[in-house]
Amino acid sequence: MAGIVASASWPQIARMDKRICLVTGATDGVGKATALELGRRGFQVVMAARDPKKAEGVAKEIGADVIACDLASLKQTRALAETFKRRHPRLDVLVCNAGVFLPERTLTKDGFETTYQVNYLSHFLLTQLLLGELDKSDDGRIINLSSSVHSMARFDPDNLQSEKKFSVMGTYAASKLFMLMFTEELAKRLAGTRVTANAVHPGIVRTPMMKKAPGAFRIITYLALPFSITPERGASTSVYLATSPEVRGVSGAYFVNSKRTATKNALDTPDNRALLWDLSLEAIA
Ligand SMILES: NC(=O)c1ccc[n+]([C@@H]2O[C@H](COP(=O)([O-])OP(=O)(O)OC[C@H]3O[C@@H](n4cnc5c(N)ncnc54)[C@H](OP(=O)(O)O)[C@@H]3O)[C@@H](O)[C@H]2O)c1
Repeated sequence: MAGIVASASWPQIARMDKRICLVTGATDGVGKATALELGRRGFQVVMAARDPKKAEGVAKEIGADVIACDLASLKQTRALAETFKRRHPRLDVLVCNAGVFLPERTLTKDGFETTYQVNYLSHFLLTQLLLGELDKSDDGRIINLSSSVHSMARFDPDNLQSEKKFSVMGTYAASKLFMLMFTEELAKRLAGTRVTANAVHPGIVRTPMMKKAPGAFRIITYLALPFSITPERGASTSVYLATSPEVRGVSGAYFVNSKRTATKNALDTPDNRALLWDLSLEAIA
């Protein structure tokens, strides 16, 4: 269950003047580096952590609030949003960063394929639940971690959860395509509001996800190590999107190296985005 971790004294240390960000998967890799940098830049950081103990060091360093949440559970995702709303007056930046890269098809307790739920569906739900809080900000920003591998993914409405076919990269890449398509559809639906949504490829980053890649991908990622970047550099595009005045009002775009970049997937069409949205709403109903 979501609950207070960093913070029996939390309400006393909250500062109303700081911009507030919520980062999922803030206990390791890119998300941890993002949380640290935003904290150092004066944000009030809220870390969503599957393992709150793992968040303690960073939380102490930057005075972050920690809310426990396993994104493999829709119930815990709803509790995360509720706890956030109880403790914080609004949300300025939501970074949907947590992700997994799994060796096999497994189901969560909710009955969804794990990669689909953790990487995509729970972030879809969390965003829906926090849109009202983002709307209270004068410059609400949603930052979704996609990946360059979105280009090799298939959008098959009958295989969203790898029901017909699981493959290590295919399933992961599909979840990253869904994050991109969701971002684009969300931006369209948010047009005319002060809330924006953009997607990010962080680069090939030396994180546990890369270093512990499953099966044959361990060899590929090992060979890619010399070309990989640090988590701090991997976080730089998310930090740019969270902080830069240059991107105020920019929405529905995909960023690599802090630059707007074209997406590459012929199946990422307006019709498919709308279909994914409807199927996702059904899934969380
Ligand atoms: N690394 C790359 O080269 C690369 C490239 C493109 C895109 N990305 C994307 O960037 C994002 C960050 O990746 P990373 O490389 O930093 O990964 P990472 O080092 O493996 O960190 C993943 C984070 O997600 C959290 N997480 C995993 N399952 C969770 C769950 N069920 N509930 C809540 N939190 C959960 C982890 O928590 P624990 O600490 O408890 O494990 C950790 O904080 C991901 O969305 C990934 O797809 C990464």
